[in-house]
Amino acid sequence: MKGTFPLDKFRDLRTPFYYYDVQLLRDTLNAIKVESARCGRCVVHYAVKANANPKVLSIIRESGLGADCVSGGEIQAALKAGFPPEKIVFAGVGKADWEINLALDYDICCFNVESVPELEVINQLAHDKGKKARVAFRINPDVGAHTHANITTGLAENKFGIRMEDMDYVIDLAGSMQNVEFIGLHFHIGSQILDMGDFVALCNRINELQDHLEARLLRIPYINVGGGLGIDYAHPNRQPIPDFKSYFATWHTHLKLRSWQTLHFEPGRAVVGQCGSLISRVLYVKQGANKQFAILDAGMTDLIRPALYQAYHKIENLSSEEPVQAYDVVGPVCESSDVFGKAVDLNTVHRGDLVALRSAGAYGEIMASGYNCRELPQGYTSDEFL
Ligand code: LLP
Repeated sequence: MKGTFPLDKFRDLRTPFYYYDVQLLRDTLNAIKVESARCGRCVVHYAVKANANPKVLSIIRESGLGADCVSGGEIQAALKAGFPPEKIVFAGVGKADWEINLALDYDICCFNVESVPELEVINQLAHDKGKKARVAFRINPDVGAHTHANITTGLAENKFGIRMEDMDYVIDLAGSMQNVEFIGLHFHIGSQILDMGDFVALCNRINELQDHLEARLLRIPYINVGGGLGIDYAHPNRQPIPDFKSYFATWHTHLKLRSWQTLHFEPGRAVVGQCGSLISRVLYVKQGANKQFAILDAGMTDLIRPALYQAYHKIENLSSEEPVQAYDVVGPVCESSDVFGKAVDLNTVHRGDLVALRSAGAYGEIMASGYNCRELPQGYTSDEFL
């Protein structure tokens, strides 16, 4: 089964471009709303890093989600899309002074702090402005996730977060500072996680840490468990909306949230992944020694995930129903890793056919580059074609 696309509207557009199915995005946001409400005191911040297309961002903002940002640029994009500052959180291992100042000027909800030197700088910059910054500590929980090594973040070896054994010291340090207010803990163990057991392991670790804090008579209002819920790249049509029911139920069942706490989430991929496709045109079909190549006008500059993480994206020939043949689907960029898939079954391909690379709404358009002086791809939403 292929996805449905307004092919007649695509014909005159310059390729490659990203296409976002607004109805699917809205349905996904609605599922998040319904399922997170069952979970109790939950607040969901969309991880802007997954996709900052202005049209996509404003649809997400309309649904009432907050924004999780990792740079000053993302904070600016979120503000421009209308996210209220009190619904913006700011994470990242390397926050520059101007980025911290921007966040202070807007009185954002919380800084997710990743080191002692960063805490000291936030305290100093807040002091210079006569303000008090709310901070949560990103704790590295040393919990692995069953996903690609490049997108695992919660192991002791990763650069992210503060070591668990340093937590008490950092909390005491914050307590001694005039211009920061310690409000809670932040975690994120990785991305594209489909095994709920990984999240259960994080719940168990958080429960231990919470008991420890309680023994110290510390009462914190904010627990943030990051993002990470994966999507079904193999079957975008069969499971267009991720299993938010199991996801939120997992936290509800396993995390011992205190009555005075709110639980914060930061999903990125699960919100936007399935609604986006990269649409490309076939430039050439080329015969190789023992295979044939379908050479697209989209390359790794438009969608880098296959080259960078050996990621799978389902590929469909939208222009043909002719018998299926196997192709190596490649881009035009001068790199041998500019390959979207090997021995991919596609309906017989001809020059000029339109091809969809599915499940590309997250970490697609936003990771595009201008390598080889290529133009950045455009992004269109389905409602532009009505
Ligand atoms: N919160 C924090 C602190 C994060 O580092 C991330 C992702 C998220 C939330 C959102 O995670 P998600 O729900 O999207 O899994 N470019 C890679 C993924 C990098 C994820 C980085 N951090 C890819 O294309 O697979």
